[in-house]
Amino acid sequence: MINVKLNDGNEIPAIGFGVFMIENNGPTYDAVKLALKAGYRHIDTAAAYFNESDVGRAVKDSGIARDEIFITSKLWLQDYGYDAATKGIDTSLKNLGMDYMDLYLLHQPYGDVVGAWKALEDAKKAGKIKSIGISNMTPKIYQNFVPQFESLPAVNQVECNPLFQQKELRGIMAKDDVKIEAWYPLGHGDAKLLKNEKISALAEKYGKNAGQIILRFEVQEGFITLPKSTNPTRIATNIEIFDFELTENEMNQLRAMDTGKGSHNPDAPGVGEYLLANYKVHD
Ligand code: A2P
Repeated sequence: MINVKLNDGNEIPAIGFGVFMIENNGPTYDAVKLALKAGYRHIDTAAAYFNESDVGRAVKDSGIARDEIFITSKLWLQDYGYDAATKGIDTSLKNLGMDYMDLYLLHQPYGDVVGAWKALEDAKKAGKIKSIGISNMTPKIYQNFVPQFESLPAVNQVECNPLFQQKELRGIMAKDDVKIEAWYPLGHGDAKLLKNEKISALAEKYGKNAGQIILRFEVQEGFITLPKSTNPTRIATNIEIFDFELTENEMNQLRAMDTGKGSHNPDAPGVGEYLLANYKVHD
């Protein structure tokens, strides 16, 4: 595993195990246990994934020291604004059964983002969070909110894979040395990506599967990538990508796959309202 250095001096493993849409009370516990056994040392959860408690239990039961595992969680929209965010951070810690998180993100960029960010900054100062970041900020949203923050985010976690490479956003964030984290790094199983001819040819050449070629591209491009799987073989093989390197020519072929579009558009009207109405982490 390689680490990526963040703009606050902390380091993060380049591949994290994503647990979006894996159920709590068993399935997430089992998947995280398998992931830790396979060698992952970075787990990415969120209050709105409803599985922080399984992540925490799996980490505890793994026997691996807490400081050897990088834990990310995210604040949900219901808890934006300074006071609610301060409580939301404590709730995540309680659900995880941990006294600090390595990284905590504002999950969605709507509502009182600036007040919530201030709460993350203060929780960082208090030692409850080591690094703080944002998520789902498009160029337009990033350029609105980040100049209003006192301190820079360490990461922006957005949809990102070879079909949607976020080139404009990466250009803007590079000026602040804000790293990109990729959700849906495998296109959420999209056949257009996993069965792409160029990727299949590279898989054949290197004796790897398509998922491994995609994840290798992302890590080599400098992304922090968060593949999700509940399949024991794929959980294990998705981190077996450090024994080969794509050539510059091959990287350029994959860079050319960018369509500039993903499955989700955070700039669309009503997204914040829709999310708030449909996902509730508490009453
Ligand atoms: P499964 O859980 O059966 O492995 P993303 O991380 O982009 O959201 O993609 C997750 C989806 O991709 C899941 O449906 C997962 O299914 C599947 N997946 C995970 N790893 C691979 C892989 N190496 N090759 C093909 N599909 C994969």
